[in-house]
Amino acid sequence: MRISTGVRLVIFVAAIGSTTVAANFISQDKKGKTPQTASLFPKDGPKIPLGLVPILWPDDNAYTPEKAELGWLLFFDPRLSSDSTVSCASCHAPAFAFADGQPVSTGIKGHKGGRSAPSVINRGYGALQFWDGRAASLEVQAKGPIANTIEMTNEKDAAKAHATCLERLRSVKEYRQLFKKVFGVEDFTIDQVAQAIATFERCVLSGNSPYDKFKAGDKSALTESQQRGFSIFFSNNARCDSCHDGSALTTNQFANIGIGMDKPSPDWGRFNVTKREDDKGAFKTPGLREIARTGPYMHDGSLKTLEDVVEHYDKGGIKNQWLHQDIRPLKLSKQDKTDLVAFLHALNGEGWQQFKAPVAFPK
Ligand code: HEC
Ligand code: HEC
Repeated sequence: MRISTGVRLVIFVAAIGSTTVAANFISQDKKGKTPQTASLFPKDGPKIPLGLVPILWPDDNAYTPEKAELGWLLFFDPRLSSDSTVSCASCHAPAFAFADGQPVSTGIKGHKGGRSAPSVINRGYGALQFWDGRAASLEVQAKGPIANTIEMTNEKDAAKAHATCLERLRSVKEYRQLFKKVFGVEDFTIDQVAQAIATFERCVLSGNSPYDKFKAGDKSALTESQQRGFSIFFSNNARCDSCHDGSALTTNQFANIGIGMDKPSPDWGRFNVTKREDDKGAFKTPGLREIARTGPYMHDGSLKTLEDVVEHYDKGGIKNQWLHQDIRPLKLSKQDKTDLVAFLHALNGEGWQQFKAPVAFPK
């Protein structure tokens, strides 16, 4: 991660009798004014864009602006990885709408994983994380990559990986101060690292798209083609909404739509977690917001464009004995396909663009 030195600005305010640190890691705007952290992480939680429902904050990890800011710093900090080369943002980058634009992602020492990096946008709306849902919360998920030898660590043992990550972070004075401020302790734990990161992730939202404006009554928000695509998406024929429904456009259910099922040894997805026969080849239904920005698509990154995705559904997926019943030939016309893709573009919105990489990290 490159840190631009020109705009580096770290201000310390040492309040008498306490260890409060008011650090500013945010880049200056064009007029040379530094936007306050408060505008990134408001006191009462993130502003919920049009079309989204309020975030449900877990009882054991409530929102505070300081915790969200700490999570933001950790999310972008490559020191979470063994050799300080890989951060969460390496594979979930703002430039790619918090995904990485690659079919499968590349971690430490150039190791390649077997699955595509999903976006973290709107992940606060689903409990189960990962394509196969193996992590029960964002807090549990965040500890995964830190202990993953393909992604962020050289350590084979997960406990050791977490311990060495903690050692690196605890050696940074400003992190000790920030954790003290947020959690009341300097010798913070990996669970607290994960809690801070999860708090940040719950602030990364996307709504207020042309689709939301259209639904709210602005009939000019969608083009005619997009309006036809809207009707197809929610039609009894295509039934996209039988899986992609709700404000984040996912029911968070698992389904086999045939992706990768024609490979010699398919990724069994959800089955690996539940060992239930009917979960074979099933993956978590992704939310579709910002979808035009997060290709290539599917758990294995095998479909390059939204046109390819629509073709996949139109032909009825890839046949296999576990294929979901709603995946069958749709007989869409050329125009229908164009319209459906146009509609998917109308799901690009806002609520995440303000989160850029910090201009400096705790020292
Ligand atoms: C080397 C690339 C890489 C790094 C580094 C990485 N991730 Fe991921 N991330 C992935 C991939 C690939 C998946 C999907 C893996 C799977 O489902 O088995 C994923 C899945 C996720 C998910 C689940 C999304 C969903 O839709 O279920 C979240 C949340 C997430 N990562 C956050 C993080 C955080 C937080 C960090 C840093 C602690 C991080 N990632 C580091 C590649 C990466
Ligand atoms: C039976 C449930 C179901 C239906 C119906 C369905 N989808 Fe999906 N969709 C999924 C699942 C599950 C995935 C991920 C599959 C995988 O990676 O193996 C997915 C993936 C996608 C993706 C790629 C997301 C990403 O982040 O890579 C797009 C785009 C998409 N669907 C659009 C649609 C459209 C358009 C329709 C209607 C024509 C539709 N879906 C119908 C379940 C469904």
